[in-house]
Amino acid sequence: MLVDGEPRVSCVTPARRVSGRNVTTLEGLPAADSDAWAKVFCATGASQCGFCTPGIIMRLDGLRRKGGDLHDRDTVNRALAAHLCRCTGWQTIVEAAAAYDSTVALDRDLDAATRRATVEGHATQHVAPDIALGRGGFADDGAPTGTQVAVLSGDGTWTVAPTMSQARRIIGKVQGRRTTVDPEPPLEVPSGDWAITLRTGWVDPAYLETDASWAIPGGSPADPLANGGAFGAKAPSPLPEAAAALVADIGTPVRLRWSREDVVRRGAKRPPMAIAMAADGTGVVRVARTEGIAERIRSVAPDWDVEEVDIAGPPTSSSIRAAGWGEVLAVRAAATAGDDGTTEVTTPDGAWASVRIAGDGAHVRVRCGELLDSVVARSYCIGAVHMALGWVTSESVVVDGDGECHSLTVRSLGILRPGDMIAVHVEFDDEPGAEPVSGSDAVFVATAAAAWVAQRESGGALPASWPTGRVLHSPA
Ligand code: FES
Repeated sequence: MLVDGEPRVSCVTPARRVSGRNVTTLEGLPAADSDAWAKVFCATGASQCGFCTPGIIMRLDGLRRKGGDLHDRDTVNRALAAHLCRCTGWQTIVEAAAAYDSTVALDRDLDAATRRATVEGHATQHVAPDIALGRGGFADDGAPTGTQVAVLSGDGTWTVAPTMSQARRIIGKVQGRRTTVDPEPPLEVPSGDWAITLRTGWVDPAYLETDASWAIPGGSPADPLANGGAFGAKAPSPLPEAAAALVADIGTPVRLRWSREDVVRRGAKRPPMAIAMAADGTGVVRVARTEGIAERIRSVAPDWDVEEVDIAGPPTSSSIRAAGWGEVLAVRAAATAGDDGTTEVTTPDGAWASVRIAGDGAHVRVRCGELLDSVVARSYCIGAVHMALGWVTSESVVVDGDGECHSLTVRSLGILRPGDMIAVHVEFDDEPGAEPVSGSDAVFVATAAAAWVAQRESGGALPASWPTGRVLHSPA
């Protein structure tokens, strides 16, 4: 939003702070301007789920109105620093800004684009200009006007009030703080003569729209998976069931929403692992006990030992992007990387990707069946590079020995900011007529392996655990 013409991040700006001031949201832009932004975001693949995009458009429009150079990557990156996009990896947003005042064509088959987005996200995701305007149909937006709000108390019960702020006041809920504690992977590698080992910790999928659902008496609860798959993490969301139970209890419409700290404490995480591979290619995976994870690991490593371990911490899920098989394939890809650091991965679905990280960025090659729409496929692959780089270098949830989470803000989860992102160059080997499969999952795993290999010590050893705490930079 713009407050007296200045861009402000609305999600952390209390309404009282803008009392009496001039506030412009996306809906207040001249239609010609918002339509132009919607078109250019769709044309460049700069919006996927679309949750972050209205705020980003307002930021960029504020920059444009002040005469800022939308073609200058550093200027745009600086403008985006206060924002967070989990899906796109920033690069296509920078490209959208640069294309704003040029003529962009939208003569693509957007049904085919929607099919590609749905394959990549493993959940329905629409592709259209108005997705960039926040019209993706988010779960929390669909509740009838006047629906009461339920927020989670510390004891795990729901407190209902007419508004969100009233509900939060009743339970004395305060915003979570970010932690300054360093993450430590909780599992040790089994002793043995190993060629390569890796320890990982809890990772939050960090989707931007926190889990939400609502229900009316006699109706079905709203699905938190409104427009996109949240990287598999919302599949086990308990909110629809909670909404159904609460509406049956109180008999009036109610909407439920997790706060960010609720998502960190209660939402599904990538399970921590300790992986060891011997020179003959056999190996062991020690993993936090997680339903379905052993099957996922054995889908790519049927002869490996899998040890599930009970450890205190937030819930984990095997539905998270590439959980289990991704770690094993990343270790194998790092072990077989080319002299120039190129890694290759073939996913259980049959998608293939190779990634090389060089001085000018990440070079990605992908085969994922019939492409359907190169703009969307490219956007997802760039987003996957961003997520994988964060996974290897900076992302984690700090969890203490009692299982308590200490990374309670979205900023403390370690998502790479625009200025920390390397350039990504994507090429596709199209396979007309072949079943489309998720290429970005292959890119995600191959990039993780390539980023790990790129951080080899001078003696040749790979860093022992993720996140490594290092940042990979390359010129724009
Ligand atoms: S498009 Fe930015 S968070 Fe989804």
